[in-house]
This record gives sequence, structure tokens and C-alpha cells, in this order.
Amino acid sequence: MPVPSREVFFATCAPGIEPVLHEEIRALRLGHVERQVGGVHFEGTIRDAWRANLWLRTAVRVLQRVARFEASDANALHAGASSVDWSRFVRADGTFVVDARSKESALDHTLFVEQRVKDGIADQFRAKSGRRPSVDKESPELGVHVHLFRDRCTLMVDTSGESLHKRGWRRFQGRAPLAETLAAAIVMMSGWDRRAPLLDPFCGSATILIEGALLAANVAPGLFRERFGFERWPGHDAGAWQAMRETARAESAFPPKLVVRGWDQNAEFVEKARENVAVAELADRIVLEVGGARDFEPRRGWNAWIVTNQPYGERVGDERDLELLYRRFGERLREFAVGSHLALLSGNPRLARSLGLKPDRVVALKNGALDCELLLAEIAG
Ligand SMILES: C[S@@+](CC[C@H](N)C(=O)[O-])C[C@H]1O[C@@H](n2cnc3c(N)ncnc32)[C@H](O)[C@@H]1O
Repeated sequence: MPVPSREVFFATCAPGIEPVLHEEIRALRLGHVERQVGGVHFEGTIRDAWRANLWLRTAVRVLQRVARFEASDANALHAGASSVDWSRFVRADGTFVVDARSKESALDHTLFVEQRVKDGIADQFRAKSGRRPSVDKESPELGVHVHLFRDRCTLMVDTSGESLHKRGWRRFQGRAPLAETLAAAIVMMSGWDRRAPLLDPFCGSATILIEGALLAANVAPGLFRERFGFERWPGHDAGAWQAMRETARAESAFPPKLVVRGWDQNAEFVEKARENVAVAELADRIVLEVGGARDFEPRRGWNAWIVTNQPYGERVGDERDLELLYRRFGERLREFAVGSHLALLSGNPRLARSLGLKPDRVVALKNGALDCELLLAEIAG
């Protein structure tokens, strides 16, 4: 069997998440790990990329670098795109899509860049076999990413396919759900020890609780997904991939006494969030109840981690009501949760101050396009 070649990969993530993703990649013992803005580089074989796709909780995509060259005009771009052996990644009768970004480069028209790279790929197939893969923007077998920065072009292929936040367990969105990757990141940033109770008093579709429970049980987040990009590439070793998944499945174990609990004032949300929990195979592990945060009363002495994403006006709720809610919730925390830890993602710093808690740390994050802050505090009386 041929020895798989070593490749350079780039795992992408949302802004602010890089340190957590870096830690995750180091924990997978991948080679030459290097943190960048927007993601983390590592080196390894395609099997390492499978492992990254299966196990990383905070990565959005894992891209494999296939070429790097100078390209200040269309001919250089076409020549560079033609230098890659594309038959490694897509069949002549397959489908692909090209996505381009350009910054401080002469080739700044991204549609044109996409067209030229697409032509380079198509021309190579046509010259060899007379046939060429076609473009499919909905469900391509191969995604090609082009990054131009100061006329230097990097071509990458997408090993993930659909964004990795699409775990496969979500049936219900709720209102303003967190991306699964962001939820996993804030649970990790909270410093939760994976043994103390994990509570979310504004649980919505239960994203934080599900991601937390999967983390504590060492369940690979990719196990629920139907498919990854690399599975559609020519020569993919489906048997070895299946074996890797089976091994991962055998590595999970839910901590026997772990408490994972959520509340939401909306009864319909709670009902539907239970469907998400069931698909994630956590129905007997996560308890969800209807309850208002104004009456939040965790058991005294629980020393819990309260990880939550309160409504913050931009998408849900009215600001004045929310201010009262935050104030009241802060009072409940000081009354019932002294010694517990709070990690609260908020898109409104003014509202977050109404809690009346002094954060130990504030981390700037993005929730989609929204600028947010993650407040980390130990609750004092
Ligand atoms: C920003 S969403 C949380 C989204 C959640 N993290 C997810 O991923 O689905 C805020 C949630 O708080 C709930 N909520 C609003 N006011 C509440 C209150 N006073 N008590 C409890 N839940 C409340 C809403 O119904 C909504 O589901």
C-alpha cells in the first residue's frame, strides 16, 4: 500500500476561537501546529485530516493546501491552477465549486478569479479525457478555495464539505441558536472541569448543553454527520475511515453522575430541544425543564458551571425588559449560586453590566456577524 503523502492543512474557525482550536489540534498530536488569524495550520496525512474532521469541536472547515504561487495576472492564475493534479480530488464526471477571496492583490475581482481557476481545472480534464467535471454550487463533490493576498495565491481543497458546525444532531433551531462550534468553544473557554454540573438557564435549542455533554463523554462531534468532503474524493479508503469511526465510538463514556440541565421559559422550545437531545443520544443524560430565569434556583452547594447565551436585544427581546431580566438574574446568581462559575455570551455590554457581577475575564468573540463578549466570572455573594 502506498505511504500517504504529508500535506499542509488549515483548520478554520470563527474570530476569537483560535486559542481553543490550537489547543484542540495539539491534543490530537498533529504535527507542526501553528496558530494564525482565522485558524490553525498543521501538517499530516489525509488520515490526520479525517481525524481532525471527526474530532475537532471548534473548527469550521479543514482545508488542504494544494498549491502556492505568485499570481498578479490571469495567465499566472490559470497556469498555477493547471499545475495541480485535480484527478486526485474529483472525477471527470464529478462536480466542484470554486470560492475565492482576495486582499491587497491585483486580481481583486473574485468572480473573475473563480472563473479562471474553474477554467484551469476544467481544461486539465478536457485535455486528458475529453470530459470535465461540472460546477455545482449546492452540493459539490469538491470545494476549491482560492486565497489571494498581496498577489500570492494559495489553492486549497475542502476536506470537510459542509461546515463542521453541522454536526447532524440538530432537528430544531429555536430562536437565535448558537453555532455548535461556538457553543463548544465557550464551554471549553469557561474552564468547565467536565465533572461539576453544567447548567444553561436560557437553553433554547440546547446547543450548549449538547456540546458540553458530548465533550464530557468524549464523543467525537463528527460521529453524527452523514458525510465529509473527503469521502467523495476518488480513491477514498472507506474501510479505513469506517474503522476510524468505530474506534472513536468505542472511546466515548458518559461520566456516570454528571448533571447537565437546562431551562427555557418557552415550553415549545423545551419540547423541541428534547428532539435535538434525543438525536444526539443524550436523552437520559440531559434534563430540560420549562422555567423562567427570574426564578433561577440551582441547588445550593452544586458549584456548577453556568454557561449560557442570554437574549441580548439584537435578535430576541426588548432592551428595557432585558435590563430588568439581567438585573434579576444577577441577583438570583448571587443568592443561589455563590461559588459557581458563569460563562455568559452577550452581544450587549451595557446589558451584561446589569448583572452586577465583576467578570474575571472578558473575551471578544463573534456570533455570526454580531460582535459579542464572553464574560467569565466566579460568582461571589
Ligand atoms: C439567545 S437564545 C439562546 C439560544 C441557545 N443558546 C441555542 O443555541 O439555542 C435565548 C433563549 O432565552 C429564552 N428566554 C428569554 N427570556 C427568558 C427568561 N426570562 N427565562 C428563561 N428563558 C428565557 C428564549 O426563549 C431563548 O430560547
